[in-house]
Amino acid sequence: MADGSHHQSPQKFAGSLNHAMISGPEAEAAQLCANNFGKPGYNDITKCYIEQLYAGYSAENQETWQILFDRQMAFLQDNASQTYLKGAGIINLSRDRVPPLADINARLHPLTKWQSRAVPGYLPAKAFFACLARREFPTTIVIRPKESIDYLPEPDIFHDIFGHVPLHADPTFADFLQTYGKAALTTDDPAETERLARLFWFTVEFGLIREGGKVKVYGSGLISSPGESRHSLSSDQVDRRPFDLDRVCDTSFEIDKFQPVLYVLESFEQLRDAMNTYAGRLLAKAGRKDRAAA
Ligand SMILES: [Fe+2]
Repeated sequence: MADGSHHQSPQKFAGSLNHAMISGPEAEAAQLCANNFGKPGYNDITKCYIEQLYAGYSAENQETWQILFDRQMAFLQDNASQTYLKGAGIINLSRDRVPPLADINARLHPLTKWQSRAVPGYLPAKAFFACLARREFPTTIVIRPKESIDYLPEPDIFHDIFGHVPLHADPTFADFLQTYGKAALTTDDPAETERLARLFWFTVEFGLIREGGKVKVYGSGLISSPGESRHSLSSDQVDRRPFDLDRVCDTSFEIDKFQPVLYVLESFEQLRDAMNTYAGRLLAKAGRKDRAAA
């Protein structure tokens, strides 16, 4: 929901989701801001944020977190990027309980100036990009219902914190993600927005990286999915292509099946540098448009 790659699925979860945590006047006002962000009177992205009312997590929610954590972390020790694993250590990602965002931020912010900010639900693209441009990650705070533990059509706190946030502790990835947000804010061209969504999908969500001669997962959609992380590394049905930004931006994707095509980075510097070049191109395009309009 609070996620650039999930723009296509804004509906709420079915099942026994703890809706109490994301309802009420504060959440409604924040969602109204998100839905209208960029229109007159809705220019303060911080008004889209809410508090993570920690008492709202039930014992079953905590148990769900522990089950998800345990069954994935052992696999990731050998199969996730060292950058992810190092970041998970830095933010003290733990099986003990659903992470309080304040604890994560106390470790993250001094290092890379990134923070996780709670949001009430789906964020439209502009609001999502505005958060990233400020080094703020809009974070879903609810966790999936225990009976839906294996399949969830949209992000929850396990996807957003366990899947995404460890990489925000890496200075190179941290810079890439902010540049992505800033660049995305410079364009209103639907074709360009589509290309940016593909870039996000094939890197932040489903990226692979080669480390020490072995392909590892780093994209949050793989990190947080026991089924697809294994499939992405071992299936002969997956076309693992070398990362090339323009080729990535030309590759379409489908959201509700295992990805048949994935892109493999050689380093996060490669991603950051490619993004800087792309951002420069978008800025030049925006500048030409401004001059034509003047
Ligand atoms: Fe995501």
